[in-house]
Amino acid sequence: MNTDKIEHLISQMTLTEKLGQMSMLAASLVVTGPVSPRDPVMLVREGRVGGILNTWGYDEIREAQRVALEETRLKIPLYFSVDVLHGHRTIYPIPLAEACAFDRDLWLRTAAEAADEATRDGIHMTFAPMLDVCRDPRWGRICECAGEDAYVNAEYARAKVTGFQNTNDHPHRRLAGVAKHFVAYGAVTAGRDYAEVDISRRALHEVYLPPFKAAVEAGVAGIMPSFTDIAGIAMSAHRGLLHDLLRVKWGFIGVIVSDYNAIGELIPHGVAQDIVEAAVLALKAGIDIDMMSGAYEQGLPIALERGLVTMQEIDTAVRRILQMKSAMGLFEYPLRGLQQEIPGPDTIPAHRASARDAARRSLVLIKNEDGLLPLSNDVRRIAVIGPLADAQSEMMGPWCMAGDEQQAISILQGLRESLRAQDIAHVPGANIDGPADLAGIASAVAAAQASDMVVLCLGENRQHTGEAASRTLPRPFNCQMELAKAVFETGKPVLLVLATSRPWILPDWMAAGPRAILIALFGGTEAGRAIGDVVAGDYNPTGRLCISWPYRTGQIPVHYGMRSTGRPHDPNNGFSTSFLDAPIGPRWGFGDGLSYSQFELGEAQVSKPVISAEETVDVSIEIANTGAHSGEATIFMFTHDPVALATRPLLELKDFRKAVLAPGQRTLATFQLNANQFRYPDFNMEPRLDNGRINIFIGTSARRIDQKCVTIDVLQPPVVNDDAA
Ligand code: NOJ
Repeated sequence: MNTDKIEHLISQMTLTEKLGQMSMLAASLVVTGPVSPRDPVMLVREGRVGGILNTWGYDEIREAQRVALEETRLKIPLYFSVDVLHGHRTIYPIPLAEACAFDRDLWLRTAAEAADEATRDGIHMTFAPMLDVCRDPRWGRICECAGEDAYVNAEYARAKVTGFQNTNDHPHRRLAGVAKHFVAYGAVTAGRDYAEVDISRRALHEVYLPPFKAAVEAGVAGIMPSFTDIAGIAMSAHRGLLHDLLRVKWGFIGVIVSDYNAIGELIPHGVAQDIVEAAVLALKAGIDIDMMSGAYEQGLPIALERGLVTMQEIDTAVRRILQMKSAMGLFEYPLRGLQQEIPGPDTIPAHRASARDAARRSLVLIKNEDGLLPLSNDVRRIAVIGPLADAQSEMMGPWCMAGDEQQAISILQGLRESLRAQDIAHVPGANIDGPADLAGIASAVAAAQASDMVVLCLGENRQHTGEAASRTLPRPFNCQMELAKAVFETGKPVLLVLATSRPWILPDWMAAGPRAILIALFGGTEAGRAIGDVVAGDYNPTGRLCISWPYRTGQIPVHYGMRSTGRPHDPNNGFSTSFLDAPIGPRWGFGDGLSYSQFELGEAQVSKPVISAEETVDVSIEIANTGAHSGEATIFMFTHDPVALATRPLLELKDFRKAVLAPGQRTLATFQLNANQFRYPDFNMEPRLDNGRINIFIGTSARRIDQKCVTIDVLQPPVVNDDAA
């Protein structure tokens, strides 16, 4: 539909119909009984709904769209939206896991596949990607983001937006992304969900905004403000960030969609007296679509009467929504993409294979003493113990609305398929949560004693993760700790598989006890097979942590991008920054992860020693596989600016790269680094580039010991002052 037609449509709309377009309803529209006056069908029929969330599938979508097209006055099609965070029917690893793959192609591919499935189910919009950088495992929603680093989240944003919106060949297989939650939701106080966010402007600009900037640059269709406030300004009313920054400075032209009931929640936030004030604040801030609070429908007619908002402001929002529907192709193809056959892992085998690959790439082997993995042929009898061993449902993670847990592969099944020659005994030994099961522990110990080794599968259930799932002690549940102690006491070699949604704060004995530890954040439909592949040695692990695993809760936040401080940490100096009762760094940090191969790095080299603004330098390093297995190395490039106007993090990630190498093979990895990448926010949060030295660290993790350093100098031509000339 062209601009003129959209304007013509707006000119025909009543206020109720305009506010209807601005309202999103959570509903099912296949009616099986008598209807009430507020029934969703009635609301659609009266033009009071513009789009529907949490509805998918052939019958539902067809019926809802039929009502919109046949029974409403203006016949404007509905759009349908669902949270497709890590897959639609085929479920991929949770974002925190997939980020550990450090693989942009993978991130893009799984988004495109999810878009393909969701559009076949009639969906047009997803509330993803979630881009809340987070450094706090207490927050349940940490599982939805790409970890602790701004650059990783930004790269993840670009890949996901492109995968959802622009990758599939047919336009009807593309899904509009809504990047969320703008902004800094990941910094909620103490990791308590919905709590206040009080961070510096510097943290906002350096850490939390860049992923959203990347999403906007990639052309994301929508942005969702977070439930929270920032420094006292509720995000759903934050004109400074939503209008002045997002719309005006960044030039964002898509729709801004509120979070669920978030406009109404401006009242309990204490910034709006009633629903009228809430609606005014949200509209003035720039929110186009009200998800489920009813504030626009109820509040804006009164606000208009009182002169608190104008019809032009309402029309601006309606125009954006109609433009979005037009870009989706809904006016021409209201049932775009919809098919009767249910798309998913049983009907699209390529997606199932891709989910297995994604799950394998997301696994992080963090400990492997004496090469316990891959399992040697001498291991004949294996005891698979723990409440997560046979937990199909938990593998699916928090956002799997259309996913079918019956399709998910448990760890036990995956091991049975991969280890056909071995005897596998299975004993749960404990529940996921709740009191210790003494009889269960006794059976587990007996099974361990009768085996050559134990695979101990501990973790969380899906309800422990995601929204409203904050924990002050994100650690193993007591019943699982009792089980682990008893199993360790048998003295059998243990592989601990941690099937969690977030970093767990492990007791030291629990990290020390097992010979090998595999971090298996919920891996989705194919989780179990991926684990089987790694344990059997059919896949050489390549995942690296995108999030630090602290030693103690009291260290939080702990991440690789800390600053030097005026008293840098020095183990020999008591008056340097440190803890008396814990190390300063995490137990396992950013980039940590093992492979069955060994990789060695040569010396890093730069193509020129000095660059000026806008110039690019090549930074190269030789990587050699000195191990006996073919494998995939992950190489990170960090920088550090040792002298600047503002204190700088000790390391800032600028790029990452994979290299597949056969035993004995070497390759030269070359990164391009532009001087603009050394810019940092000045005191006005404008990007600033200083003359002077930059240290470049290339390595296999964020640990200095794994890195090679090379330096470069920035020298900008002096500014010519024309007046003086
Ligand atoms: C609330 C969540 O905060 C948001 O992420 C999600 O998209 C909406 N509910 C809709 O399900």
